[in-house]
Amino acid sequence: MTKIDWSKLTFSYTKTNTILSTSYRDGAWSPVESLTDDTLRLTSFAGALHYAIECFEGLKAFRGKDGKVRLFRPEENARRLQRSAKYLGIEAPSTEMFVEMCKQAVRENLDFLPPYEATGASLYLRPTLIGSNPQLGVQSSKESTFLMLCSPVGAYTGGALEAIDCVIARNYDRAAPNGSGAFKVGGNYACSLCSLNIAHELGYKAVLYLDPATKTTIDEFNSSNFFAIRGNSYITPKSDSILPSITNMSLETVAAHLGMEVERRPVPVEELATFDEVGECGTAVVITPVHKLVDKPFLESEEETVYTYGDGMCGPKSLRLYNYITQLQRGEIEDIFGWNVEVEI
Ligand code: PLP
Ligand code: COI
Repeated sequence: MTKIDWSKLTFSYTKTNTILSTSYRDGAWSPVESLTDDTLRLTSFAGALHYAIECFEGLKAFRGKDGKVRLFRPEENARRLQRSAKYLGIEAPSTEMFVEMCKQAVRENLDFLPPYEATGASLYLRPTLIGSNPQLGVQSSKESTFLMLCSPVGAYTGGALEAIDCVIARNYDRAAPNGSGAFKVGGNYACSLCSLNIAHELGYKAVLYLDPATKTTIDEFNSSNFFAIRGNSYITPKSDSILPSITNMSLETVAAHLGMEVERRPVPVEELATFDEVGECGTAVVITPVHKLVDKPFLESEEETVYTYGDGMCGPKSLRLYNYITQLQRGEIEDIFGWNVEVEI
């Protein structure tokens, strides 16, 4: 194994020791296999390849100050995967099986778990569920394959807490009204790529989508939820077309614990002009502050409204939330909410 420079990790794939795999067929899951080869053998007619019968999760394992290894709220990821699978009509692993496989993947890949000193680095777990039997007609797959994948990662964009510029893509949506936006299915990410590619070409790191039905309120970013701070309030959108983020849910609890008001409600676009701080939140992005948010009515057009937050650094309230959640994950403060799940090593 080549030595990893933990300080240089980005959010990209590094091959680890093993991936775990199990398949559901005729009412039962096969014994979990631990594979050193990360290349799958899959029928070319798998539903995942033709009809995007795929959903996934993302969660992180951290090495604590005390040397212990902790997963952050894995049961929540298990439940969300079960919701996504139900939406696709395929079988998902039980919560117990999901968490056990998370722990096994961490144990088998401890070489790739960044040390405590590598601030901002973690072992990212990517549980992935695919429709895996051969099929031609459009229907939910009868067989599914569940993979527990992982990779060491660093910050999603730039450095941790580095503020980014984002764009509102008014004429693009990632999900339809009454569609799949609230489920973590791969198809949602495919639908975000066209606008994300244009945004990247224009120098923006992320795309912010509006609610697809009325285009008057804020939904979420392409790979994270939206939050804003005004005065002592933590404000985040309530919408049926956004992913229920486990990070956001945790930040709401932390904000209330720290004495802030928490508002989860539809957030009209006009309010963007009134916020003190704006950020992305999610497992991969943790908290990523937004410096400039550009509202481009037709993305390619010249017409734009620019909202600016702070001076390019993370705002004080976002920083307080970031510190709390990352300290809790790394065992630096007491886990009063019981969110961490220890992996016995
Ligand atoms: N929204 C989208 C579209 C995402 O891809 C993610 C990432 O998982 C999130 C929100 C944040 O969710 P979580 O905090 O559970 O990672
Ligand atoms: C995560 O934050 O875990 C995600 O799944 C986002 C991902 C699309 C990069």
